[in-house]
Amino acid sequence: MSSANNQYVHDAWYVAGWSSEFTHSLLPLMILEQALVGYRCADGTVAILEDRCPHRQLPLSKGQLHNDNIQCGYHGMTFNGQGQCVRIPGQDNIPSSAYVRTYPVHEKNNIVFIWMGEPDKADTNAIFHLPQFDSDQWHAHQGDALHLKAHYMNVAENLVDPAHVSFVHPTTLGNAASEDIEVHVDVDSDVLLAWRWIRDAPPVGFFQKFGGFDANVDRWHYYYLHLPCTAVIDFGSADVSAQLQESERDKGVRIFALHFLTPVNEHYTIDRWMHLRNAAVGDEQASEQMDAMFRIAFNEDKEILEAIDEAERAVQTRKPIRLAIDKGPIVYRRRIQSLIDGERPEVELHA
Ligand code: FES
Ligand SMILES: [Fe+2]
Repeated sequence: MSSANNQYVHDAWYVAGWSSEFTHSLLPLMILEQALVGYRCADGTVAILEDRCPHRQLPLSKGQLHNDNIQCGYHGMTFNGQGQCVRIPGQDNIPSSAYVRTYPVHEKNNIVFIWMGEPDKADTNAIFHLPQFDSDQWHAHQGDALHLKAHYMNVAENLVDPAHVSFVHPTTLGNAASEDIEVHVDVDSDVLLAWRWIRDAPPVGFFQKFGGFDANVDRWHYYYLHLPCTAVIDFGSADVSAQLQESERDKGVRIFALHFLTPVNEHYTIDRWMHLRNAAVGDEQASEQMDAMFRIAFNEDKEILEAIDEAERAVQTRKPIRLAIDKGPIVYRRRIQSLIDGERPEVELHA
């Protein structure tokens, strides 16, 4: 077994895709190095199975969907959405070993979540949610699936790191006014938080274009990281004259950028991003404008993160130094490691 399997938290809900990605056809997926196949059944539910026939290991995604059953493309063994074998061509007896592993799946807010750990521990109440999804004062819009050749921990780290915004995203999310503003970090609760306010400064490109601000604004960035792999970036701007308090962010133009990270393998992560906002509700043109700006910004992150992945694969001559801004990422890595350690069977720990 590859040591890479120890790099992931398994007892967690991950995003398998947007709801629109699942239709009545076989969709191969790779999550935590496990090959999976998903499809939508006639009753509207999504089934996700291991993508491997128990006979000669042909990926089931190479077969065919007949009603809600998958027929293997090699010798025709057929499995239903619960992974049970319902047919073996040429024999009547179906042995008890003729099954395929299935995964708990739950759809919420037009997102398909999959539980990658022990099925008995899957609790749908633990699936990520924000009350703003249910509010008609807020508009939710799904963006893209960004494919990064980078380790998911490096991607997550970037999402609890407000300091990079001034340097990586100078035309969209940041500008020079924030370069030297201190980042606050709160790691006392389950959700890690890093934030800062930039008061009385020129608006960043995003809010010039989207909020229509041209005079100085107060701007905030709150980065929430829900372990293991979901990030919420709460950012916004308000007229300086409003003298907004930290708890009054709803009075400004407020946007949540959500990132759902799906680790594919140790050098590959899919970041499905979407946004919610309290302005231009129902205005799809505004959604598209925002998508365009986010695409610029997130491709800037991709370039950085892929270059780091390459540098980390090269021969290492010294340990990376740590800065004050690294507190969130350091705690993130420590917590992920302790979750992974907690999942390992004791025999392995003592081996
Ligand atoms: S490999 Fe699937 S039935 Fe033989
Ligand atoms: Fe970024």
